[in-house]
Amino acid sequence: MEFCRDWWMRKLIMGSDEKENKENDPRDDVIYQRFATSTNRKVLVKNHRRIRRRNRKKIRSENRSGFALWIFQIRCGKIRRKIHSVGTYPKCANPTVKIAAIQPAKKARNNDLQKTRMWTSILPLCAIMSVSSANLGWYRPEQVHLSYTGHPTTMTVTWTTFSWTPSVVEYNPLPGRPSFNLTAYGSVSIFVDGGPKRRKMFIHRVTVENLEPGQKYVYHCGSSLGWSPEFSFRALQAGSSWGPRLAVYGDMGNENAQSLSRLQKETQMEMYDAILHVGDFAYDMDEDDAQVGDEFMRQIESVAAYVPYMTCPGNHEEKYNFSNYRNRFSMPGNTEGLWYSWDLGPAHIISFSTEVYFYLKYGQELVAKQYRWLQKDLQEATSSAHRSERPWVITMAHRPMYCTNFDSDDCVKHDSTIRTGLPGGQYALEELFYKYGVDLEIWAHEHSYERMWPVYNCTVSRLHMIA
Ligand SMILES: [Fe+2]
Repeated sequence: MEFCRDWWMRKLIMGSDEKENKENDPRDDVIYQRFATSTNRKVLVKNHRRIRRRNRKKIRSENRSGFALWIFQIRCGKIRRKIHSVGTYPKCANPTVKIAAIQPAKKARNNDLQKTRMWTSILPLCAIMSVSSANLGWYRPEQVHLSYTGHPTTMTVTWTTFSWTPSVVEYNPLPGRPSFNLTAYGSVSIFVDGGPKRRKMFIHRVTVENLEPGQKYVYHCGSSLGWSPEFSFRALQAGSSWGPRLAVYGDMGNENAQSLSRLQKETQMEMYDAILHVGDFAYDMDEDDAQVGDEFMRQIESVAAYVPYMTCPGNHEEKYNFSNYRNRFSMPGNTEGLWYSWDLGPAHIISFSTEVYFYLKYGQELVAKQYRWLQKDLQEATSSAHRSERPWVITMAHRPMYCTNFDSDDCVKHDSTIRTGLPGGQYALEELFYKYGVDLEIWAHEHSYERMWPVYNCTVSRLHMIA
């Protein structure tokens, strides 16, 4: 019986956000009425139905955006409190609760209602207690990560809040105590996940400029409504006569992220200049109404808030036209984040999407558009002037052309789509990369490590062998 009461009380308080499909859980009535037999069933059932009707009505009228919100009223003897809850309910975040109005209640209808006071009086108390801490959490930046813009004197900081706030980064060079005497401002955009709850979050992007190459900086981000913890980064070195240190991996999930602890430690030891995550994040970022994406981004903050975290999309980012990927990361260029290139020391690194070849429902023109962009970028990168300064041309994308695994993936097929292009041989990448002399291709997707001899047209070639 105690279980039933607790369960029903929890449904009464929190249940509305579970009713976005506007259907009632039949267990409500069964368990509630079982419980009600031991008290005054007639009054409680009436009260329960009244509250539930009101909840449904409010949800219909106010939950259009999918932004989880619920409103209910509590009659508690002499006062009636109207409690509004706004925002979403990520697993690790508190919902914001605001007391919107407190007004005298009508006289209690009958004495039996007073028997419910003992229950309901705890509700406004809980709500009031949660106000201060919840509001702070709502504006506080989280999921902080860095990305490189392509210019060594700049760095982009990206983070998430669940309410609108300004986008500010305060920073100063080290050594010395943090003074945060330098300020950079950026922009905020609203990202609405495509899941049933249409969860909404605010993505902040600030590019810090005029950095001194190689200099270490301390920073925090947010606004006067709430600041992140203190982080630090080292601005990338300028020029091409230095050897970048990269951590390269793909297919890292939110659970069982076995590489993460090593990455954390080695990041703290300043072993990396940048991280390349070659597609497939979190498994999947859109799962559980994008709450898995939130958790993953919180986890990698311990690495990505200190070192530029450069990415490309994988097949697990496909949902809702790669919207979680596009919105959560801030990659260089003006290409909606699916493909871009950047210079790092002696290397020109090209990141592109193999997924445009497989998810044609989002537009076959993307394959052509990306291919034309690759052609143009490779032409520039392999021009004599550019290549003499940056001799290494490196590509990174998710699905490989070749692999030796025994599964049904594209790379085990002789005529792999990535290698030979769409039916008819259009937009074949192997020919393109061979023509422009790409030195190194980095792939992921197959959960195994393979390093290959130089290969062209399924034949090992020693002409371009790398020592
Ligand atoms: Fe994959």
